[in-house]
Amino acid sequence: MKYIPEPFKIKMVEPIKVTTEEERRGLIAAADYNAFSLKAEDVYIDLLTDSGTGAMSDAQWAAMLMGDESYSGGRSYYQLIDTAKEIFGYEYIQPVHQGRAAEKVLFPVLVERPGQTVIANTFFDTTRAHVGLAGGRPIDCVCPEGLDSALDAPFKGNMDIATLEATIADLGVDNVAGIVMTITNNSVGGQPVSMANMRATAEIARRHHLPLVIDAARFAENAFFIKQREEGYADKSTREITREFFGYADIFTMSAKKDAITNMGGLLGVKEEGEHVPDVKSLVIAGEGYVTYGGLSGRDLAALAVGLGEGLDESYLAYRVGQSAYLAARLDEVGIPYQRPAGGHAVFIDAGRLLPHLPWNQYPGHALAVELYVEAGIRSCDIGSFLMDRDPETGLEQRAPLEFTRLAIPRRVYTQAHLDVIAEALGEVNKRADEVKGYQIISEPKVLRHFTSKLRPIG
Ligand SMILES: Cc1ncc(COP(=O)(O)O)c(C=O)c1O
Repeated sequence: MKYIPEPFKIKMVEPIKVTTEEERRGLIAAADYNAFSLKAEDVYIDLLTDSGTGAMSDAQWAAMLMGDESYSGGRSYYQLIDTAKEIFGYEYIQPVHQGRAAEKVLFPVLVERPGQTVIANTFFDTTRAHVGLAGGRPIDCVCPEGLDSALDAPFKGNMDIATLEATIADLGVDNVAGIVMTITNNSVGGQPVSMANMRATAEIARRHHLPLVIDAARFAENAFFIKQREEGYADKSTREITREFFGYADIFTMSAKKDAITNMGGLLGVKEEGEHVPDVKSLVIAGEGYVTYGGLSGRDLAALAVGLGEGLDESYLAYRVGQSAYLAARLDEVGIPYQRPAGGHAVFIDAGRLLPHLPWNQYPGHALAVELYVEAGIRSCDIGSFLMDRDPETGLEQRAPLEFTRLAIPRRVYTQAHLDVIAEALGEVNKRADEVKGYQIISEPKVLRHFTSKLRPIG
């Protein structure tokens, strides 16, 4: 494979601990077989999430020292607003403490009546939860290619346009509160959405006077995939692509802990200042803090302003999506099935196919994550039926369309040698795949259960 030029060098290092297999067996049992309950210092390579785990640049650290901590109207706020307005072309930009804070503010404004539906290419779990908490009903509407992990297709994150139309017609437009486009589509493997698909979705939203919202956590990786894969975009910059893409929507929510490479932060953007903005401001002041800091310190706002630009840098993005492609190529060598092609921020292993002896309600994605930790101290997580909360009406478990184990790659943190360890460890697990045990939940909360449930192995 062609080498990946890493467009940075390392100036500061953090030691990581190497544990023995015996120690790890004890540690995961003591954590009730839930990797979220492990101490991070007992993890060798942490692929639990790419959220807030990136390495900031020297320019971001320098900006933090210059952060303006004024309660209202600070310099760092204006730096962030100017940068974000220029990138996204939206009139109103609201900082918030992270992505779910933007969701918490937006969905009570959008969902006007209990029971109204919000339709997405696929909801991320916090977005799904906030639609529900606002009284809405979240429905996923991803294109069929997104659910076939063995199929190689360029834009597997797309909205299924025909089903979107049919769902609005079936429900009646008054029963729909809005449409959400998640970029990249995290839950189906960090798969991108094409510009053509966004345009078609926007046309439906306009025709029905429905607001179109971008869940924009990985907007820059999505733009880079469009540049690489969609006809007519090879010569456009990721900034131009981003501007066009956001031009089709009305609102965006963003976790800035991903593509803006900060450890904390989020944004909410509204294209036209008039509608929704007064309600957004009231909810932000009540829940997050005054509008010019939105739950962040001035130094966080300053780091975010710099990170938004760095996240769009094309040599960085080539390295970034190159890393997951490299890991996927190594997994091919050891026969591990995954959602093809590799996503932008992660490789999603198809644990349902790797562990066919485990039924969905023994959580193959979770079982593989535990096994990978025991093998090499690598922490990952289930994106499958364990992640799905119970049906709020029937209380029954819900089956996910695919049973994934997600290897999320933090930004600018791990080297190619770390990626080699991950592939080799999975190769070892593959040799004993038929012995991997399933899991049962012994206690769980009502919502977002995968974070705090306790489990035990079956048999
Ligand atoms: C697509 C997507 N939307 C929203 C969120 C929520 O963001 P945060 O974790 O900053 O609250 C995430 C986080 O992983 C995400 O991946």
